Amino acid sequence: MCGIVGYVGKRKARDILISGLKRLEYRGYDSAGIALLADDDLMVSKAVGKISQMELALSEAERESICGIAHTRWATHGAPNEVNAHPHTDSANEIALVHNGIIENYRTLREFLVRKGVTMRTQTDTEVLVHLVSLNYRGSLTEAVRDALTQVEGTYGIAVVSSKHAGEIVAARMGSPLVVGIGDDENFVASDVSAMLEHTNRVVYLEDGEIVTITPDNYRISTIQNVEISHKAQEISWTLDQIEKEGYDHFMLKEIHEQPDTVRNAMRGRLNIEEGIARLNGLNMQYEELRRINRILITACGTSWHSALIGKYLIEEIARVSTEVEYASEFRYRSPIIDDNTVLVGISQSGETADTLAAMREAKKRGDMVLGLVNVVGSTIARETDGGVYLHAGPEIGVASTKAFTAQVAVLSLIANILGRMRQSSVQFGQEMLQALQRIPEQIEQILANEDPIKRIARTYHKANNFLYLGRGINFPVALEGALKLKEISYIHAEGYPAAEMKHGPIALIDENMPVVVIALRDSVYDKVMLNISEVRARNGQVIAIATEGDTEIADRVNHVIYIPQTYRLLTPLLSVIPLQLLAYHIAVMRGCHVDQPRNLAKSVTVEQGPVDKVLSLS
Ligand code: AGP
Repeated sequence: MCGIVGYVGKRKARDILISGLKRLEYRGYDSAGIALLADDDLMVSKAVGKISQMELALSEAERESICGIAHTRWATHGAPNEVNAHPHTDSANEIALVHNGIIENYRTLREFLVRKGVTMRTQTDTEVLVHLVSLNYRGSLTEAVRDALTQVEGTYGIAVVSSKHAGEIVAARMGSPLVVGIGDDENFVASDVSAMLEHTNRVVYLEDGEIVTITPDNYRISTIQNVEISHKAQEISWTLDQIEKEGYDHFMLKEIHEQPDTVRNAMRGRLNIEEGIARLNGLNMQYEELRRINRILITACGTSWHSALIGKYLIEEIARVSTEVEYASEFRYRSPIIDDNTVLVGISQSGETADTLAAMREAKKRGDMVLGLVNVVGSTIARETDGGVYLHAGPEIGVASTKAFTAQVAVLSLIANILGRMRQSSVQFGQEMLQALQRIPEQIEQILANEDPIKRIARTYHKANNFLYLGRGINFPVALEGALKLKEISYIHAEGYPAAEMKHGPIALIDENMPVVVIALRDSVYDKVMLNISEVRARNGQVIAIATEGDTEIADRVNHVIYIPQTYRLLTPLLSVIPLQLLAYHIAVMRGCHVDQPRNLAKSVTVEQGPVDKVLSLS
């Protein structure tokens, strides 16, 4: 997601826009830009990096403007560089536009514009919007924006200015939030109220499909279909800190609750339901090359290593392609056997993890095909791969990874679907799998709406010193992920195990002080998991089960049960992980831990710990 601010009124726009933009830096911060109107002149300044970098690029002349728009970027299409930074301008440099969202049909629009003789200057999806506005301009900026948006599919929050309309901002919303701030002889527009709260607390929220024309003393809202709309102004009582977290107490909880949208974004524009096949253009691989792959090696760290393990189950079961998963920190020092038909996949939210980057460089040195599943566009790993898939999860601020994990699993599901449809998977199977994926976001919403029972369970066990997490099959990695979430934010020791492994040692740990979380879904191993639960209960272990909605049998066999909706069994990790994220979060809060920045941890481990070189020189 990106940050948008617009101002028009009686004061100098430059400083108001920059201070407002700095309030939005948590929404994205890889580049920033500003467009200012002074009389009939449009001035645009952009820079890579933090907003302060862009501030340095501004000239004295740009101080005099009373109308402008500004943007801080979280790249989704096109590397984070100055050319791709917003605002984008039309060929005549008379119109400037900033955008938050994803234009799904931007390739088609790009081809249309090139046929019209437009020279595209960036790699972004956003650029097509400003050229469409220009093509549709016949004297009214509002009508030009309205006509342009009728050709657009996808999500957007946009703000537009033109040197032919000094003192006017046109903004529009579809899927990405926009709010109008109402001042005295001045008005604002922004992605969220934190950008304007120091100037006004009177706001009007735009709804999807609405356009607003803003001038210093007025704002006029209409629908894309040109129906006049009036919304009642609201008074905001939130503090700035509350606004950045959108009312949640922590970024981690906000990001857990963002997952319906982030899983949607991971799939957005990537599903061909009719043919039952996903499309991931970023892999840069032809169908023939995809068909030739006979072995996949996935390397990652931490939570990303857990999603990699889930990827193994998905790809081997759906596509029958041998898939191995390696800790990157181990892989980088091994001498792995890799042949021409092996593809190495690196998974990394940050795209900067030193071990993962080193492992991928090692594979590249051997001449392997290296792909990346990365959240941060233009990150080091993203730049060094032969191809890959962006997660589109938006900035993940909480150190404990949540929405990036489910985005990784969603993308791995798409990869398994493609590889399967290249081989023996039928159209019908592909369609059913993708349709089940499409239902996942609303099913996550159902689980999130039922948070109170999870809070009560957290209250019961937040003083425990140890936890055990058990799962089988594709939910064994989810048990590992649930244990990692708990230990990294609550500092309680927790281990994940395959449920059947209990009898080979861990069962010695079971007593009344050992809460055991068991993922016990209605699948082919349900009865075996129920036996494992009986073994735990027989030793007074406290069992918290994650069960399938409608399973009435399990409630009498465990101490607590959290239900999740039914879905295709290989997609259950996208649902079974949600209660585990919430349980870890609430236990950590009840223990007074610093949830967003746990002790000893960093959001991205960009250095390798320990003097490895000394050890090597001894050998
Ligand atoms: C996850 O909650 C942890 N913060 C950590 O294990 C993380 O997953 C790991 O460091 C890998 O990070 P990456 O995905 O950015 O490469």
